Amino acid sequence: MTTSATVGTDERTERMHRLVGELREVVGRGLPPDLTAYLAGEKLAPHLGAADLLTDAQQVGDPDRYRQHIVHAEADGSFSLVALVWLPGQRTAIHDHVSWCATGVHLGQESECRYRLISDGRTARLVATEDVLNRQGVVCGFAPPGDIHRVQNSGTTTAISLHVYGADIARLGSSVRRVYQLPADER
Ligand SMILES: [Fe+2]
Repeated sequence: MTTSATVGTDERTERMHRLVGELREVVGRGLPPDLTAYLAGEKLAPHLGAADLLTDAQQVGDPDRYRQHIVHAEADGSFSLVALVWLPGQRTAIHDHVSWCATGVHLGQESECRYRLISDGRTARLVATEDVLNRQGVVCGFAPPGDIHRVQNSGTTTAISLHVYGADIARLGSSVRRVYQLPADER
């Protein structure tokens, strides 16, 4: 995956500090992954679009590829929060994830294409099942399996999304479990 990444500094806004505390409470309940993702999305939603959520440094993009800023990685590895900055046209490869995830669009909009892996035992391909436009303020939650997708900034301005993962992204580097090079429906 062609992401440029920065490991977070300790610099964090007061609002972000509050959000991390709210997420810690949700994750600490030890609920099933899909429910944890849903509840984490509920915690994200009220903060999206707030001017005092991210530092200036956490909103900087990269002209070459979408950029990941690690905002928080919980010391016990139970969850992480990253900010992804997408310039117009930037997109991911088709991929799935190591853990449950809650996402929220902070700025701009993102287009997402979801896929299903179809195999006859000898060959496999990816069939597009859904196209979703996630506008500013929209949250989604999901948990593997069945979480194959591609995300892109299809707008004309910078997009920023927040992603909470049930994994230590500072250690793993990214949330991607697998990048798919299979034949896929083009979108
Ligand atoms: Fe993803």
